[in-house]
Amino acid sequence: MHDPAEFRSLHLDRFQAEPALFAAPGRVNLIGEHTDYAEGFVMPAAINFATLAGISPRSDGKIAIYSENYREERTFDTSALPQQGSRHWSDYPMGVVHILAGEGHAMPGFSLSLWGDVPLGSGLSSSASVEVATALAVESLLGVHYPGPGLARLCQKAENQFVGASSGIMDQFISVNGKENHALLLDCRDLSYKLAPIPDCVALVIANTMVKHSVAGGDYPTRRRESESACAVIARHRPEVKFLRDATLEDLERWGQEMQPKALMRARHIISENLRTVAAADALLRGDLKELGRLMAEAHWSYSRDFEASCAEADAMVELAQDLPGLIGARLTGGGFGGCTVNLVEQKDAEAFAATLGERYTERIGIVPQMYICHASGGAHRVA
Ligand code: GLA
Repeated sequence: MHDPAEFRSLHLDRFQAEPALFAAPGRVNLIGEHTDYAEGFVMPAAINFATLAGISPRSDGKIAIYSENYREERTFDTSALPQQGSRHWSDYPMGVVHILAGEGHAMPGFSLSLWGDVPLGSGLSSSASVEVATALAVESLLGVHYPGPGLARLCQKAENQFVGASSGIMDQFISVNGKENHALLLDCRDLSYKLAPIPDCVALVIANTMVKHSVAGGDYPTRRRESESACAVIARHRPEVKFLRDATLEDLERWGQEMQPKALMRARHIISENLRTVAAADALLRGDLKELGRLMAEAHWSYSRDFEASCAEADAMVELAQDLPGLIGARLTGGGFGGCTVNLVEQKDAEAFAATLGERYTERIGIVPQMYICHASGGAHRVA
């Protein structure tokens, strides 16, 4: 992670004021993809890549936001805050400001600096980490405190209502509530969760295909709509089915012919993914890594073939990992259509695994991937 002391002086130099510092991590999802908005299950872990936010009050009625990643500053008037996003990086922090203001908090002027090392547009939730870091920073200035699930919801709203991306709750939730050395099985219906320890002998090797992914882009909402149309067909017969979380594979057998073929495929992925995710958490909890790996492989091919959210590069990254020493399980992680694969690998083999997978990918695809050997980290916090 970026050195907080260096980040502090960056804020001091620019704004001539001592900042309070906050950090919020990105995440990797071990299993449970496109299930969160269907009120299903996900099992992410926070990772040791994060966004740092530095905040200090100002008295001129302005909100100045500086991004060290984009090397750009934007200024807003607290008396005329934007009501919607403008497809700019500042949408993420300003979305949080917008939602907090909508909650009835009078917005004071402040200077906010942001810096992050979560790879952008790679399916590791750089946006959620910006939202959560901003939320903690602004919260501290307002002197209010939202408990974990409430803070995650607030940031999700910023993304849904201001940025205009129809994402679920997973990314913001894990960024707020991640725990060192643990994955978290989250029930997206009531936001209850169970922590599952990741054994010391297991490394998270994240392989970036370098194909850019965007949740705000067209494919994510299309998949969401398709799956919701399948749910509506089932609900005609079983009105108690409000989300695909409530549906079963038997429902698809009975009423699948009434669905558009693509909708049926999307629903098959989501319904089976929910079952796999709960089973994967059980496997992790009882230390059955072989079963966990098997479920991850099944999840990848369901995501690729039924949900059609993979791409040739991500499929190759998963295939090329299969016979490498130490592999426990590999799959495409995050919103899909590019981004990263997550590989659970025996710690002792992690370095060699990453090097060889990188070489194989370059040879096959002609792109040099970035490889990150990560560990599960704690959630968002104030930096001393
Ligand atoms: C993105 C969204 C999440 C979730 C995943 C897919 O990361 O932000 O809410 O839907 O895609 O599992």
